[in-house]
Amino acid sequence: MILRHFLHIYDFNSETLRHLLAQALELKKTPIQPLLAGKSLGLIFEKPSTRTRVSFEIGMGQLGGNVISLQNSEIGLNSREPVKDISRVLSRYVDAVMIRAYHHSDILEFAAYATVPVINGLSDLHHPCQGLADALTILERKGTLQGIKLCYLGDGNNVCRSLLEIGTRLGMNIVVCCPQGYEPDMTGVSGTISHAPAHAVKDADVIYTDVWTSMGQEDEFAKRMRDFEGFMVNEALVAKAKPDAIVMHCLPAHRDQEITDGVMESPQSVVFDQAENRMHAQKSLLLHVMGVSL
Ligand code: CP
Ligand code: NVA
Repeated sequence: MILRHFLHIYDFNSETLRHLLAQALELKKTPIQPLLAGKSLGLIFEKPSTRTRVSFEIGMGQLGGNVISLQNSEIGLNSREPVKDISRVLSRYVDAVMIRAYHHSDILEFAAYATVPVINGLSDLHHPCQGLADALTILERKGTLQGIKLCYLGDGNNVCRSLLEIGTRLGMNIVVCCPQGYEPDMTGVSGTISHAPAHAVKDADVIYTDVWTSMGQEDEFAKRMRDFEGFMVNEALVAKAKPDAIVMHCLPAHRDQEITDGVMESPQSVVFDQAENRMHAQKSLLLHVMGVSL
């Protein structure tokens, strides 16, 4: 049996991604539907989380299912027990697993041994659940994704890579504006790289940023603070985009590093819609990976 793992946006074609977004909009209108009654979801966290944990737990509950959340201090990925053993054990208890891990290779190994669908809840290289929810937010706000110009300012990180993948699948025009040396992997995605923020945001429909120092990179904090100078999303930069541009951030945000407090709190900011949409998008995803239709 082919399992519907969601480890990368590119695991799904455009048609499936569009279906997931349309289904998420339907679920948002009618949140409580016991379509996954009797099903169980396991969540594994090797790194901290607020949105991912709560949106999966509450979303699964709204669908009538059960959740068990496991911290790495309890299960010890590769310290207490090999990933391949944890994967096969959990597969005997639950109907799907979401895993957040430092190393993408651990998520790939987990999925290779799992006998239930596996969802990537963030790794060092990808954050597909975030990309899916962000596409939902842009679709709601702009009515389309085709031809939308999204300017991503900051580190070419996990969130950036998943945005590039969903943007490529769904026809967005993505410009990544980062300091030299912080470019994302552009293999197989369309999009352009810039090093000039004022130029890159011109005519943007969406301005997106994320932390400059991701979880696991804390040792590089001081260097990154220096290297990213000039890449903060501030009022002057937002004013250069389209007047109706929206500002996005996956959260958690560091005010007055990658984004000013003023921009975060401005009417153009949709950051809390993004956070909410994590839940709607993931409920749609859970139905899909478990083979249940609305
Ligand atoms: N955006 C996001 O994934 O948030 P958490 O790290 O709080 O889950
Ligand atoms: N790029 C960030 C995203 C957090 C949701 C990180 O990996 O820490």
